[in-house]
Amino acid sequence: MKQFALSASAFATAMFSLHALAQSPAAAPVDPNTFLNQFESSFGKFEGFRRSGAKGICAMGDFVGTAEARALSTASAFSGKPVPVVVRFSVGGANPKAPDNAKSQRNLALQFNLPNGELWQMGNISAPVFGASSPQQFFGRLASLQPDPATKMPDPAKVKAFADANPEVLLQGKYFASQPVPASFSTVNYWGVHAFGFVNSSGARQFGKWIFEPVGGIQGLSDEEAKAKGPSFLFDDLRQRVKDGKVAFNFNLELAQADDKIDSATVPLPEGRKKINLGTLKVTSVSEDAAGSCLTITFNPMVLPKGVEPSADPMIAARAAPYGIGLSRRLTEGAKQ
Ligand code: HEM
Repeated sequence: MKQFALSASAFATAMFSLHALAQSPAAAPVDPNTFLNQFESSFGKFEGFRRSGAKGICAMGDFVGTAEARALSTASAFSGKPVPVVVRFSVGGANPKAPDNAKSQRNLALQFNLPNGELWQMGNISAPVFGASSPQQFFGRLASLQPDPATKMPDPAKVKAFADANPEVLLQGKYFASQPVPASFSTVNYWGVHAFGFVNSSGARQFGKWIFEPVGGIQGLSDEEAKAKGPSFLFDDLRQRVKDGKVAFNFNLELAQADDKIDSATVPLPEGRKKINLGTLKVTSVSEDAAGSCLTITFNPMVLPKGVEPSADPMIAARAAPYGIGLSRRLTEGAKQ
């Protein structure tokens, strides 16, 4: 049997790097190019595609806001008149051929095209929490998942060391494992995961976390149904449901109370917080595969309308620069939807 002997210095180096990986890194900003390089090293490089949410489809819809929303925020999105919205549904991850029948993330990314050229962009996910609470922690998690060149698989010791030191990185995966495979892009909840402040005409600021909840209810597949559906059914399903006029979401806001933690994408608001309906998003048309106006949009959560503000969650602002670099890489490579 082949024996592996680790020299004292190699052992010390290995322990040092494991230790460094397991530490919550200092709060120095992560360079956005380094972030994108790490996405590619950990999940592969698929030229022209988004490094996250690669398998997606573009659609159009409209949004009508409610009087309750107008009481909370001056944002023109809530005027009560229909506002056009660019919609992108996607399957989580960097692989443009990611299977539709896996217990993985689905995304709902939106751009509200508001009067006078104002925009509101957001990327929502099908879990109440994200996989990290700070950009440094997210970067550390990605690094821990980088495949070992010898095995082509992540090193279990590194994955464990990082997760042991940062247990919140496992919450999202546990949530997906506990849920069925969504039957459709249009039958699953999508959470914003960050808190945002809603500012009204008197200047009062209410923080909250939003959820897009399907008007027709949640629908999942049994394991047998998911297997039978195969890896590629979500786009056709969406087209059919939109044709039948059945794809709509309630844009709901859970209202934070004074002592709630609102600066973390891994900590949902406590159960039972008051929830108000901000309006309804209806999806009205779906683009051909690989077409539509989503191509050059990054759905940057810092692009907010007047009347909506970011909270102190450090992940919100940290998304802007890597999304920009992601866009520049995929455009340079020849952008694909
Ligand atoms: C610092 C942390 C993060 C980094 C570095 C990051 C990185 C990226 C990148 C590079 C893209 C592709 C952008 C493009 O090419 O246009 C992307 C897409 C996306 N991200 Fe993040 N992300 C972060 C945090 C988050 C969080 C907290 C959420 C939770 C809501 C999220 C949700 C999404 C969604 C939904 C998409 C797909 C949007 C689409 O359809 O284009 N990301 N992310």
